[in-house]
Amino acid sequence: MIEIVPMTMAHLEDVLEVEETCFAIAWTRADFERELTKNTMAIYRVALVDGKVAGYAGMWHVVTEGQITNVAVLPQYRNQGVGAALMEEMIAVAKEKEMIGITLEVKISNLTAQRLYARFGFRPEGFRKNYYQDTHEDAVIMWLYFETYEHYDEMTSPTEGA
Ligand SMILES: CC(C)(COP(=O)(O)OP(=O)(O)OC[C@H]1O[C@@H](n2cnc3c(N)ncnc32)[C@H](O)[C@@H]1OP(=O)(O)O)[C@@H](O)C(=O)NCCC(=O)NCCS
Repeated sequence: MIEIVPMTMAHLEDVLEVEETCFAIAWTRADFERELTKNTMAIYRVALVDGKVAGYAGMWHVVTEGQITNVAVLPQYRNQGVGAALMEEMIAVAKEKEMIGITLEVKISNLTAQRLYARFGFRPEGFRKNYYQDTHEDAVIMWLYFETYEHYDEMTSPTEGA
């Protein structure tokens, strides 16, 4: 059973394991502590599978938009819908807080993550050259605009020749 709960300091040890397993350049304990205690924009959730931390996701509430900071699932819990459950939660929170949408950056080679985001309606909207320190890869900037956003139609179906 997948359960999504707010991340607390009690999850830190397990979250660090997820982080260090999933990313070559990992956030440190101090990074997560700052997010949980000081950053008023931060929204962090942990995915529990049968009570064990399987992954986490984070988002910053910046003015009217959500900016995903990280989504990560331990390899042994992948392909079971944990990543999807985390994204569902991020989207639900963003809608509840009346954001206009959510944006994120993802490595151009990370097709697994891009497929996950695309399933929720995220679309590529731009690129950032040499964005990642470890691989010097470009980032794809993806956006999901909510239907409640007044310019939703323009954002999702640009007018030709405009
Ligand atoms: C990207 C990531 C978070 C996805 O997490 P996940 O828990 O595997 O995600 P899901 O299980 O929801 O979806 C992954 C795949 O499993 C499939 N799936 C989901 N539930 C399933 C089930 N019960 N049975 C079979 N397949 C299933 C999905 O359809 C999806 O398939 P696809 O890749 O062909 O589209 C994970 O791969 C990860 O942590 N990667 C390393 C870190 C990373 O790259 N993070 C993103 C940074 S931007």
